[in-house]
Amino acid sequence: MSAQPIDPAQGEVRATFEGEPISCSPGASVAAALIATGKRGWRETKSGATRGLFCGIGVCFDCLVEIDGESGQRSCMIPLREGMDVRQAKGPGGTGEEPRGDARGQELGNALGDAVSDARDEEAGE
Ligand code: FES
Repeated sequence: MSAQPIDPAQGEVRATFEGEPISCSPGASVAAALIATGKRGWRETKSGATRGLFCGIGVCFDCLVEIDGESGQRSCMIPLREGMDVRQAKGPGGTGEEPRGDARGQELGNALGDAVSDARDEEAGE
C-alpha cells in the first residue's frame, strides 16, 4: 500500500470480482474494495465455511483470491489496480480449478489458509 495520503481528487479505481464491478479509492486494497461493495466472504474452506477479511494485515490467509490468473493472493495486502480481474480463490480452498502460475506456492497459500480456518473453527466448536 501507498504511504502517501489518498487524494480523493484522483478518482476511483475500477476492477471486477467474478465479472461484477468493484471499485475503491486509489491505494485501497482489493479486500477494501470487496468490503465496500458489500461482500463479507469470498472464499470457502474445505468444510464449506465462508471466509473473507479477518486480520487485514496479511497474517491469517483468510482473504485469498485469484488476481489476473494468479491464485493464492492475499486481498488485504494488494492495492486494487484499474482493470484487475479478481476471482474466488482456486485450489484446495477454492473452486477446485487447477491453479496457474507458481502452482506450488499458490497451493501452499491456500492450504495454509484452510489450516488456519479449520483450527479457528475447531476452537470455536464449529
Ligand atoms: S485478512 Fe488475514 S491475510 Fe488477509
